[in-house]
Amino acid sequence: MKEGRQVSATVAVIGAGVIGRTHIRILRELPADEGRLAAIVDPSEAAARLAVEAGVPHFLDADTMLDAVRPDGVVIATPNALHVAGARACIGRGIAVLVEKPLADDLDDALALAGEADHAGVPLLVGHYRRHNPLVQAARTAIQQGRLGRIATISADSMVMKPDSYFNVAWRREAGGGPVLINLVHDIDALRYLCGEIDTVQAVTGHAARGFAVEDSAAVLLRFRTGALATLTLSDAVPSPWCWDQTAGENPAFVRHPGNAYRICGTEASLEMPDMALWRYAGRRGWSEPLTREVLDVRRCDPLVAQMRHFLRVIRREEAPLVSGHDGAATLAATLAVHRSAKTGEAVRPYAP
Ligand SMILES: NC(=O)c1ccc[n+]([C@@H]2O[C@H](COP(=O)([O-])OP(=O)(O)OC[C@H]3O[C@@H](n4cnc5c(N)ncnc54)[C@H](O)[C@@H]3O)[C@@H](O)[C@H]2O)c1
Repeated sequence: MKEGRQVSATVAVIGAGVIGRTHIRILRELPADEGRLAAIVDPSEAAARLAVEAGVPHFLDADTMLDAVRPDGVVIATPNALHVAGARACIGRGIAVLVEKPLADDLDDALALAGEADHAGVPLLVGHYRRHNPLVQAARTAIQQGRLGRIATISADSMVMKPDSYFNVAWRREAGGGPVLINLVHDIDALRYLCGEIDTVQAVTGHAARGFAVEDSAAVLLRFRTGALATLTLSDAVPSPWCWDQTAGENPAFVRHPGNAYRICGTEASLEMPDMALWRYAGRRGWSEPLTREVLDVRRCDPLVAQMRHFLRVIRREEAPLVSGHDGAATLAATLAVHRSAKTGEAVRPYAP
């Protein structure tokens, strides 16, 4: 990285599919003195064309790019099964890495990778971008300030209809490519960030709606270490607005609908998200008394842009990763526990740091 008053970091993107292209767009739109796209790695023709359009070199494999370009940071946006190999190639060269979620598709691999990054002193940020959303940050602050009291229950919905064309990509129809590891992982990470470590996970999953090998629906119970209890409902095969992506308005790829995805209920107040409505008793408490509804004032921004800006500060060693490798591994562990519990019918205690 060059020394100077304003240090601009160079970032390469490995995997230029749906989310990789979003990272590429964000990097291209950043002020040049903050960060810039350095290269694209992806074997597809479309990626080669995108690299020409962006005016950056295109590579077919990561190792060749890393040695030729030596970027300051790398975004890994390949299919889940390739995350660990890609991240290792970067960490081995001392290059900071933003790995898309889930960190890996196997917990041992995720933990090994987190340990290698720590050992090498190379920053590893996991792409749980919802944590960068000011709405989530404000909810965490409200919880930490005790405005909700002791959290008793949480209900979270993640119900959507993915278009049929989404499943033209083979890995999305196979084990590991379904909504538990692709979508629910975001909700589990957000709830860990808001409510702390998860003690036990119980779940049932089903695949009757789409009929693929991978699940399309799940019902999950979480017990947090604090004693808080959560229910999570998930499906990618139903017409419904009740999910974070379609109510928070953080991603222009989704139509925004009114409604909420999370209700976090504490002994002093309950918070609906993303509306950020805080319900509480201003006077006497009890179900025959009126509740007041106060909407928390939060300035919104695109959390993927906020995540990239954070990654650039991580690259410059100005900030520690908001979602470390061990954090990403803990979220993965709780998410994989959904599959394990669904398979065994038993409550599962996931790894937690
Ligand atoms: N943060 C988010 O909200 C979010 C959203 C979508 C996907 N994701 C995650 O991002 C990852 C990619 O998902 P996607 O939906 O963009 O998938 P995708 O299939 O659209 O894109 C994957 C890309 O990787 C490329 N690729 C495959 N093998 C490669 C290799 N060896 N080297 C370089 N490139 C290679 C493919 O050609 C493809 O362009 C997944 O892990 C997914 O969970 C995160």
